[in-house]
Amino acid sequence: MFLNLGQIPTLIVSSPDTVAEIVNNHDVVFSDRPKTTATDILFYGNKTVAFSPYGEYWKETRKECVVQLLSLKRVQSFEFVREQEVGNLVDKVREACLGGTSVNLSQMLIAASTNIVSRCVLGQARKLGGVASEVEDFVDVLLRLQHDCTLDFELTQDHLKAILQVSLFSRIETTSTVSEWLMAELVRNPRVTKKAQEEVRRVLGQKEKDFQFVPFGFGRRRCPGLAFGIFSVEHLIANLLYWFDWKLPNGVGILPEDLDMCEVYGITVHKKVPLEVLPTLYSP
Ligand code: HEM
Repeated sequence: MFLNLGQIPTLIVSSPDTVAEIVNNHDVVFSDRPKTTATDILFYGNKTVAFSPYGEYWKETRKECVVQLLSLKRVQSFEFVREQEVGNLVDKVREACLGGTSVNLSQMLIAASTNIVSRCVLGQARKLGGVASEVEDFVDVLLRLQHDCTLDFELTQDHLKAILQVSLFSRIETTSTVSEWLMAELVRNPRVTKKAQEEVRRVLGQKEKDFQFVPFGFGRRRCPGLAFGIFSVEHLIANLLYWFDWKLPNGVGILPEDLDMCEVYGITVHKKVPLEVLPTLYSP
């Protein structure tokens, strides 16, 4: 469907076949980003990968981002952060189980995502076999690139601020929003939850790839943080499903399938009403 939204010509694509056609034959036409005053001001002249126009600068920063910041090796090096933060979340939910109280899972997921992402971006020392060992965080990597001057452009303080700002805010929000919707969908579908729990409790993970769902976008501008995002969301959700059973708090008087799923727009689309749920401890 083609719409003129004010002065902006907008093509709405909602069929998997058309998405496949775009990815395979017209990707470059859709690889630019609209220029807005807000992102221009917020990100120091759109100096960050996500909002920079398609061109040489975007190509170089995206390459560095994929190779230096978001490689599988780098994402794996943060395993200890995910483990600790998901462990903290599980402990908090366990406390609520013991007290028989419901939890605001939306808030807890935001806190867990904030902790995971900010520790990976801003860093924290860890101990390996009693010996302190530094894992290179995003700030370390950016300062190293700035110091080494290996890029085709000068990496100024404005570049660093723009990249770090986006790294923090949008990564936290994407990770917590995906987890929030996932848990909400599970709570309103007890049959699906049971199936997912059986699978998680037996073995972890299976991923599907087609053009029906494109949560990470597609083509040249697809999300380079896919591994980072999936590792965090999988870790969070798998543990919540493994350790606990979930239902709506007593007395809210609604059936699971009637759970409010209204949306609110931010950087991402998140749940309008926070997800309040009652966890109970699972005993095998
Ligand atoms: C579950 C979590 C996440 C989801 C669902 C998600 C989704 C997306 C989507 C839909 C886009 C736009 C793609 C397009 O225009 O075709 C995007 C772009 C981007 N994402 Fe993610 N993302 C997630 C997590 C992350 C994380 C953790 C990082 C980095 C640590 C990241 C880094 C980026 C960057 C740099 C871009 C801009 C790419 C470009 O313009 O070339 N994302 N993401």
